[in-house]
Amino acid sequence: MFTPRFAIWPTLPLDIHFRTESTWRPFPLNQENCRIFSRARQAIWSACIALDLKAGDTVLVPAYHHGSEIEALLLAGLKVKYYEIDGALAPDEATLLPLLDKQVKALYLIHYLGFPQDGAYWRKWCDDRNLLLMEDAAQAFLSTKEEIPVGSHGHVAVFCLYKTYGIPDGGAVISIKPPAPPRLTAETGNWRILKRHLNWVATKRGEVGFLHGLVKPALSWWKRQRDRPHAEFEMGNPDTPPALMTTRLLPKLLNEVTAHKRRRNYQYLLDHLGEMVPRQFVYLPDGACPFAFPIEVENARPFLERLRQKGVLGLLFWINPHPTLPVEEFPRSRFLRERVLALPVHQELTEYDLKRIVSAVQESRTALPAQVAAV
Ligand SMILES: Cc1ncc(COP(=O)(O)O)c(C=O)c1O
Repeated sequence: MFTPRFAIWPTLPLDIHFRTESTWRPFPLNQENCRIFSRARQAIWSACIALDLKAGDTVLVPAYHHGSEIEALLLAGLKVKYYEIDGALAPDEATLLPLLDKQVKALYLIHYLGFPQDGAYWRKWCDDRNLLLMEDAAQAFLSTKEEIPVGSHGHVAVFCLYKTYGIPDGGAVISIKPPAPPRLTAETGNWRILKRHLNWVATKRGEVGFLHGLVKPALSWWKRQRDRPHAEFEMGNPDTPPALMTTRLLPKLLNEVTAHKRRRNYQYLLDHLGEMVPRQFVYLPDGACPFAFPIEVENARPFLERLRQKGVLGLLFWINPHPTLPVEEFPRSRFLRERVLALPVHQELTEYDLKRIVSAVQESRTALPAQVAAV
Protein backbone atom coordinates (compact mmCIF):
# COMPACT_ATOMS: atom_id res chain seq x y z
CA MET A 1 0.00 0.00 0.00
CA PHE A 2 2.79 2.43 0.95
CA THR A 3 4.44 2.52 -2.44
CA PRO A 4 6.96 5.16 -3.53
CA ARG A 5 5.84 7.09 -6.60
CA PHE A 6 7.80 7.93 -9.71
CA ALA A 7 6.76 10.57 -12.23
CA ILE A 8 8.50 11.61 -15.44
CA TRP A 9 9.22 15.13 -14.17
CA PRO A 10 12.63 15.59 -12.54
CA THR A 11 12.34 15.78 -8.78
CA LEU A 12 14.16 18.25 -6.54
CA PRO A 13 16.44 16.97 -3.74
CA LEU A 14 15.93 18.75 -0.42
CA ASP A 15 19.58 19.74 -0.04
CA ILE A 16 19.64 21.71 -3.28
CA HIS A 17 19.37 25.07 -1.49
CA PHE A 18 22.71 24.46 0.23
CA ARG A 19 24.67 23.31 -2.83
CA THR A 20 27.21 25.54 -4.52
CA GLU A 21 26.56 26.95 -7.97
CA SER A 22 28.09 25.27 -10.97
CA THR A 23 30.16 27.42 -13.31
CA TRP A 24 29.20 25.16 -16.23
CA ARG A 25 26.80 26.79 -18.70
CA PRO A 26 25.66 24.38 -21.41
CA PHE A 27 24.24 25.45 -24.77
CA PRO A 28 22.20 27.62 -25.23
CA LEU A 29 22.78 29.25 -21.81
CA ASN A 30 26.36 30.05 -22.84
CA GLN A 31 25.21 32.04 -25.88
CA GLU A 32 24.98 35.79 -25.81
CA ASN A 33 21.76 35.71 -27.87
CA CYS A 34 19.96 33.42 -25.38
CA ARG A 35 16.79 34.72 -23.70
CA ILE A 36 14.81 32.95 -21.00
CA PHE A 37 11.04 33.13 -20.59
CA SER A 38 8.74 31.30 -18.23
CA ARG A 39 7.56 28.84 -20.91
CA ALA A 40 8.97 27.73 -24.26
CA ARG A 41 5.71 28.69 -26.01
CA GLN A 42 6.29 32.31 -24.93
CA ALA A 43 9.82 32.09 -26.27
CA ILE A 44 8.51 30.80 -29.62
CA TRP A 45 5.96 33.60 -29.90
CA SER A 46 8.55 36.25 -28.98
CA ALA A 47 11.08 34.86 -31.47
CA CYS A 48 8.51 35.00 -34.30
CA ILE A 49 7.79 38.65 -33.52
CA ALA A 50 11.52 39.49 -33.33
CA LEU A 51 12.16 37.74 -36.65
CA ASP A 52 9.64 40.05 -38.27
CA LEU A 53 7.56 37.22 -39.65
CA LYS A 54 4.43 38.78 -41.17
CA ALA A 55 0.80 37.86 -40.70
CA GLY A 56 0.01 35.12 -43.18
CA ASP A 57 3.58 33.84 -43.49
CA THR A 58 3.44 30.07 -43.28
CA VAL A 59 5.41 27.59 -41.18
CA LEU A 60 5.60 23.89 -42.07
CA VAL A 61 4.91 22.05 -38.81
CA PRO A 62 4.82 18.35 -37.90
CA ALA A 63 1.49 16.62 -37.34
CA TYR A 64 3.18 14.96 -34.34
CA HIS A 65 3.47 17.89 -31.92
CA HIS A 66 2.58 19.02 -28.41
CA GLY A 67 0.05 21.68 -29.47
CA SER A 68 1.32 24.68 -27.49
CA GLU A 69 4.05 25.35 -30.08
CA ILE A 70 1.41 25.41 -32.83
CA GLU A 71 -0.75 27.76 -30.76
CA ALA A 72 2.22 30.12 -30.24
CA LEU A 73 2.86 30.29 -34.01
CA LEU A 74 -0.82 30.96 -34.71
CA LEU A 75 -1.00 33.65 -32.02
CA ALA A 76 2.03 35.30 -33.65
CA GLY A 77 -0.20 35.72 -36.72
CA LEU A 78 1.40 32.93 -38.75
CA LYS A 79 -0.27 30.17 -40.71
CA VAL A 80 0.72 26.55 -40.34
CA LYS A 81 0.72 23.69 -42.82
CA TYR A 82 1.09 20.21 -41.40
CA TYR A 83 3.56 17.63 -42.65
CA GLU A 84 3.79 13.95 -41.68
CA ILE A 85 6.85 12.44 -40.02
CA ASP A 86 8.57 9.45 -41.59
CA GLY A 87 9.30 6.09 -39.95
CA ALA A 88 12.35 7.59 -38.20
CA LEU A 89 10.40 10.63 -36.90
CA ALA A 90 12.11 12.98 -39.38
CA PRO A 91 10.05 15.26 -41.63
CA ASP A 92 8.69 13.15 -44.49
CA GLU A 93 10.07 14.93 -47.56
CA ALA A 94 7.38 13.43 -49.77
CA THR A 95 4.73 15.27 -47.72
CA LEU A 96 6.87 18.44 -47.33
CA LEU A 97 7.56 19.25 -50.96
CA PRO A 98 3.94 19.67 -52.15
CA LEU A 99 3.37 22.13 -49.29
CA LEU A 100 5.97 24.63 -50.51
CA ASP A 101 4.71 27.91 -51.97
CA LYS A 102 5.63 31.61 -51.76
CA GLN A 103 4.02 32.06 -48.35
CA VAL A 104 6.07 29.30 -46.73
CA LYS A 105 8.87 30.96 -44.72
CA ALA A 106 10.01 28.35 -42.20
CA LEU A 107 10.32 24.67 -41.34
CA TYR A 108 9.56 23.65 -37.74
CA LEU A 109 11.61 20.65 -36.59
CA ILE A 110 10.94 18.84 -33.29
CA HIS A 111 13.63 16.74 -31.56
CA TYR A 112 11.37 14.13 -29.99
CA LEU A 113 12.15 12.93 -26.44
CA GLY A 114 15.66 14.35 -26.70
CA PHE A 115 16.56 12.23 -29.75
CA PRO A 116 18.46 14.53 -32.12
CA GLN A 117 17.19 15.07 -35.65
CA ASP A 118 19.72 15.72 -38.40
CA GLY A 119 19.86 19.48 -37.87
CA ALA A 120 22.69 20.03 -40.39
CA TYR A 121 20.68 18.30 -43.15
CA TRP A 122 17.52 20.30 -42.45
CA ARG A 123 19.46 23.56 -42.24
CA LYS A 124 20.82 22.92 -45.74
CA TRP A 125 17.36 21.90 -46.93
CA CYS A 126 16.04 25.22 -45.63
CA ASP A 127 18.96 27.28 -46.98
CA ASP A 128 18.44 25.77 -50.45
CA ARG A 129 14.84 26.99 -50.36
CA ASN A 130 15.46 30.28 -48.58
CA LEU A 131 13.50 29.17 -45.50
CA LEU A 132 14.15 29.66 -41.80
CA LEU A 133 14.81 26.58 -39.69
CA MET A 134 13.02 26.63 -36.31
CA GLU A 135 14.36 23.91 -34.02
CA ASP A 136 12.17 22.76 -31.15
CA ALA A 137 14.45 21.26 -28.53
CA ALA A 138 11.83 21.56 -25.77
CA GLN A 139 12.58 17.93 -24.87
CA ALA A 140 16.25 18.03 -25.92
CA PHE A 141 18.10 20.44 -23.62
CA LEU A 142 21.67 19.00 -23.16
CA SER A 143 21.36 16.70 -26.21
CA THR A 144 24.15 16.72 -28.78
CA LYS A 145 24.68 15.12 -32.18
CA GLU A 146 28.27 14.50 -33.24
CA GLU A 147 29.27 16.68 -30.28
CA ILE A 148 27.29 19.64 -31.63
CA PRO A 149 24.48 20.76 -29.30
CA VAL A 150 20.97 20.19 -30.56
CA GLY A 151 19.54 23.54 -31.61
CA SER A 152 22.82 24.85 -33.07
CA HIS A 153 21.69 24.66 -36.69
CA GLY A 154 18.44 26.57 -36.46
CA HIS A 155 17.87 30.24 -37.13
CA VAL A 156 15.80 29.87 -33.95
CA ALA A 157 15.85 27.14 -31.30
CA VAL A 158 13.79 26.69 -28.11
CA PHE A 159 14.44 24.58 -25.00
CA CYS A 160 12.46 23.69 -21.84
CA LEU A 161 14.83 23.84 -18.88
CA TYR A 162 12.27 22.54 -16.36
CA LYS A 163 11.87 19.27 -18.30
CA THR A 164 15.49 18.44 -17.48
CA TYR A 165 15.81 19.93 -13.98
CA GLY A 166 13.31 20.17 -11.11
CA ILE A 167 12.73 23.91 -11.36
CA PRO A 168 9.37 25.66 -11.62
CA ASP A 169 9.67 26.81 -15.25
CA GLY A 170 12.15 28.14 -17.87
CA GLY A 171 11.86 28.29 -21.66
CA ALA A 172 15.09 29.35 -23.37
CA VAL A 173 15.43 30.60 -26.94
CA ILE A 174 18.31 31.53 -29.19
CA SER A 175 17.68 33.33 -32.42
CA ILE A 176 19.49 35.15 -35.17
CA LYS A 177 17.38 38.12 -34.02
CA PRO A 178 16.93 37.65 -30.28
CA PRO A 179 13.68 38.89 -28.74
CA ALA A 180 13.71 41.47 -25.97
CA PRO A 181 13.91 39.88 -22.51
CA PRO A 182 10.49 39.44 -20.82
CA ARG A 183 9.43 42.48 -18.80
CA LEU A 184 6.83 41.34 -16.26
CA THR A 185 7.73 40.90 -12.59
CA ALA A 186 8.90 37.36 -11.87
CA GLU A 187 6.79 35.11 -9.63
CA THR A 188 8.54 33.36 -6.77
CA GLY A 189 7.79 29.80 -7.96
CA ASN A 190 7.72 28.62 -4.32
CA TRP A 191 4.60 26.45 -4.71
CA ARG A 192 6.04 24.58 -7.68
CA ILE A 193 9.33 24.12 -5.80
CA LEU A 194 7.38 22.58 -2.92
CA LYS A 195 5.68 20.19 -5.36
CA ARG A 196 9.02 19.16 -6.88
CA HIS A 197 10.42 18.54 -3.38
CA LEU A 198 7.37 16.49 -2.42
CA ASN A 199 7.77 14.43 -5.59
CA TRP A 200 11.37 13.79 -4.55
CA VAL A 201 10.30 12.63 -1.07
CA ALA A 202 7.55 10.49 -2.65
CA THR A 203 10.24 8.49 -4.51
CA LYS A 204 11.92 7.69 -1.18
CA ARG A 205 9.08 7.31 1.33
CA GLY A 206 6.16 5.00 0.66
CA GLU A 207 3.93 6.90 3.12
CA VAL A 208 4.40 10.13 1.18
CA GLY A 209 3.98 8.22 -2.07
CA PHE A 210 0.71 6.84 -0.70
CA LEU A 211 -0.55 10.33 0.20
CA HIS A 212 0.58 11.58 -3.19
CA GLY A 213 -1.39 8.74 -4.78
CA LEU A 214 -4.52 9.79 -2.88
CA VAL A 215 -4.24 13.51 -3.50
CA LYS A 216 -3.06 13.52 -7.11
CA PRO A 217 -6.19 12.00 -8.76
CA ALA A 218 -8.37 14.45 -6.77
CA LEU A 219 -6.22 17.40 -7.84
CA SER A 220 -6.24 16.22 -11.46
CA TRP A 221 -10.04 15.86 -11.36
CA TRP A 222 -10.40 19.35 -9.87
CA LYS A 223 -8.06 20.76 -12.51
CA ARG A 224 -10.03 19.09 -15.30
CA GLN A 225 -13.27 20.67 -14.02
CA ARG A 226 -11.73 24.13 -14.11
CA ASP A 227 -9.81 23.76 -17.34
CA ARG A 228 -11.10 25.26 -20.51
CA PRO A 229 -10.86 22.97 -23.52
CA HIS A 230 -7.33 23.13 -24.95
CA ALA A 231 -6.08 24.99 -21.85
CA GLU A 232 -2.86 22.98 -22.07
CA PHE A 233 -2.01 24.91 -25.25
CA GLU A 234 -2.67 28.40 -23.88
CA MET A 235 0.24 30.82 -23.96
CA GLY A 236 -0.32 33.14 -21.01
CA ASN A 237 1.45 36.48 -21.18
CA PRO A 238 4.44 36.17 -23.55
CA ASP A 239 6.31 38.75 -21.47
CA THR A 240 6.55 36.40 -18.47
CA PRO A 241 10.08 35.85 -17.11
CA PRO A 242 11.17 32.65 -15.36
CA ALA A 243 10.29 32.35 -11.66
CA LEU A 244 12.78 33.66 -9.11
CA MET A 245 13.33 30.10 -7.89
CA THR A 246 14.23 29.01 -11.42
CA THR A 247 16.88 31.67 -11.69
CA ARG A 248 18.19 30.89 -8.20
CA LEU A 249 18.27 27.09 -8.40
CA LEU A 250 19.24 26.42 -12.02
CA PRO A 251 22.97 27.21 -11.46
CA LYS A 252 22.94 24.79 -8.50
CA LEU A 253 21.38 22.05 -10.61
CA LEU A 254 23.35 22.35 -13.85
CA ASN A 255 25.69 19.39 -13.96
CA GLU A 256 27.89 17.92 -16.67
CA VAL A 257 26.81 14.39 -15.73
CA THR A 258 23.04 14.94 -16.08
CA ALA A 259 22.87 13.73 -19.68
CA HIS A 260 25.06 10.73 -18.82
CA LYS A 261 22.75 9.75 -15.93
CA ARG A 262 19.64 10.06 -18.08
CA ARG A 263 21.27 7.97 -20.79
CA ARG A 264 22.30 5.34 -18.22
CA ASN A 265 18.73 5.17 -16.87
CA TYR A 266 17.31 4.97 -20.39
CA GLN A 267 19.71 2.14 -21.23
CA TYR A 268 18.71 0.26 -18.08
CA LEU A 269 15.04 0.43 -19.04
CA LEU A 270 15.93 -0.47 -22.62
CA ASP A 271 17.77 -3.58 -21.40
CA HIS A 272 14.72 -4.69 -19.42
CA LEU A 273 11.75 -3.41 -21.43
CA GLY A 274 13.29 -3.12 -24.88
CA GLU A 275 10.64 -5.18 -26.65
CA MET A 276 7.98 -2.64 -25.67
CA VAL A 277 9.81 0.36 -27.10
CA PRO A 278 8.64 1.90 -30.40
CA ARG A 279 11.26 1.10 -33.01
CA GLN A 280 12.18 4.78 -33.46
CA PHE A 281 13.50 4.77 -29.88
CA VAL A 282 15.19 1.37 -29.56
CA TYR A 283 18.64 2.73 -30.26
CA LEU A 284 19.84 5.56 -28.01
CA PRO A 285 22.20 7.64 -30.15
CA ASP A 286 25.43 8.98 -28.65
CA GLY A 287 24.87 12.39 -27.15
CA ALA A 288 21.09 12.14 -26.75
CA CYS A 289 19.79 13.38 -23.39
CA PRO A 290 16.47 11.53 -23.16
CA PHE A 291 13.50 13.33 -21.66
CA ALA A 292 11.54 10.13 -20.97
CA PHE A 293 11.40 6.43 -21.85
CA PRO A 294 8.70 5.53 -24.37
CA ILE A 295 6.80 2.25 -24.43
CA GLU A 296 4.06 1.28 -26.80
CA VAL A 297 0.89 -0.41 -25.55
CA GLU A 298 -2.40 -1.25 -27.16
CA ASN A 299 -4.70 -0.14 -24.36
CA ALA A 300 -2.87 2.91 -23.17
CA ARG A 301 -5.39 4.31 -20.67
CA PRO A 302 -6.04 1.11 -18.65
CA PHE A 303 -2.32 0.40 -18.78
CA LEU A 304 -1.57 3.85 -17.35
CA GLU A 305 -4.06 3.24 -14.57
CA ARG A 306 -2.50 -0.11 -13.66
CA LEU A 307 0.91 1.56 -13.61
CA ARG A 308 -0.41 4.33 -11.39
CA GLN A 309 -1.66 1.80 -8.85
CA LYS A 310 1.86 0.42 -8.73
CA GLY A 311 3.39 3.84 -8.13
CA VAL A 312 4.53 4.75 -11.65
CA LEU A 313 2.99 7.89 -13.10
CA GLY A 314 3.44 7.43 -16.82
CA LEU A 315 2.32 10.01 -19.32
CA LEU A 316 0.17 9.35 -22.38
CA PHE A 317 1.99 12.13 -24.05
CA TRP A 318 0.53 14.22 -26.82
CA ILE A 319 -2.78 12.36 -26.83
CA ASN A 320 -4.51 15.65 -27.81
CA PRO A 321 -3.16 17.37 -30.92
CA HIS A 322 -3.75 21.02 -31.65
CA PRO A 323 -7.42 21.43 -32.67
CA THR A 324 -6.41 22.68 -36.15
CA LEU A 325 -4.84 19.30 -37.04
CA PRO A 326 -6.91 17.16 -39.44
CA VAL A 327 -6.06 14.03 -37.44
CA GLU A 328 -7.25 11.48 -40.01
CA GLU A 329 -4.86 12.76 -42.66
CA PHE A 330 -1.81 11.89 -40.55
CA PRO A 331 -2.08 8.22 -39.54
CA ARG A 332 1.51 7.78 -38.39
CA SER A 333 1.28 10.68 -35.94
CA ARG A 334 -2.12 9.46 -34.77
CA PHE A 335 -0.74 5.98 -34.13
CA LEU A 336 2.03 7.37 -31.89
CA ARG A 337 -0.38 9.64 -30.01
CA GLU A 338 -2.70 6.82 -29.14
CA ARG A 339 -0.19 4.21 -28.11
CA VAL A 340 3.01 5.71 -26.77
CA LEU A 341 3.43 6.18 -23.02
CA ALA A 342 6.37 7.96 -21.42
CA LEU A 343 8.10 6.59 -18.30
CA PRO A 344 10.63 8.38 -16.04
CA VAL A 345 14.38 8.38 -16.77
CA HIS A 346 15.38 11.52 -14.91
CA GLN A 347 18.75 11.85 -13.20
CA GLU A 348 17.46 11.63 -9.61
CA LEU A 349 16.34 7.99 -10.07
CA THR A 350 18.46 5.27 -8.45
CA GLU A 351 18.94 1.73 -9.76
CA TYR A 352 16.53 0.56 -7.06
CA ASP A 353 13.89 3.01 -8.40
CA LEU A 354 14.48 1.76 -11.96
CA LYS A 355 13.99 -1.84 -10.80
CA ARG A 356 10.65 -0.86 -9.30
CA ILE A 357 9.62 0.86 -12.52
CA VAL A 358 10.54 -2.22 -14.56
CA SER A 359 8.55 -4.50 -12.21
CA ALA A 360 5.54 -2.18 -12.34
CA VAL A 361 5.57 -2.24 -16.14
CA GLN A 362 6.05 -5.99 -16.35
CA GLU A 363 3.24 -6.63 -13.89
CA SER A 364 0.93 -4.21 -15.71
CA ARG A 365 1.58 -5.70 -19.08
CA THR A 366 -1.39 -7.15 -20.82
CA ALA A 367 -1.30 -10.71 -22.11
CA LEU A 368 -0.46 -9.55 -25.61
CA PRO A 369 3.01 -8.01 -25.96
CA ALA A 370 2.96 -4.59 -27.57
CA GLN A 371 3.52 -4.74 -31.28
CA VAL A 372 5.21 -2.06 -33.21
CA ALA A 373 3.23 -1.90 -36.38
CA ALA A 374 5.03 -0.89 -39.56
CA VAL A 375 3.57 2.56 -39.89
C1 LIG B 1 7.76 19.81 -28.46
C2 LIG B 1 7.30 20.89 -27.54
N1 LIG B 1 7.40 22.17 -27.92
C3 LIG B 1 7.01 23.18 -27.13
C4 LIG B 1 6.48 22.93 -25.89
C5 LIG B 1 6.03 24.07 -25.04
O1 LIG B 1 6.74 24.14 -23.86
P1 LIG B 1 6.17 25.03 -22.66
O2 LIG B 1 5.14 24.17 -21.99
O3 LIG B 1 7.34 25.33 -21.82
O4 LIG B 1 5.56 26.23 -23.25
C6 LIG B 1 6.34 21.61 -25.44
C7 LIG B 1 5.76 21.34 -24.12
O5 LIG B 1 5.62 20.23 -23.68
C8 LIG B 1 6.77 20.56 -26.28
O6 LIG B 1 6.66 19.28 -25.90
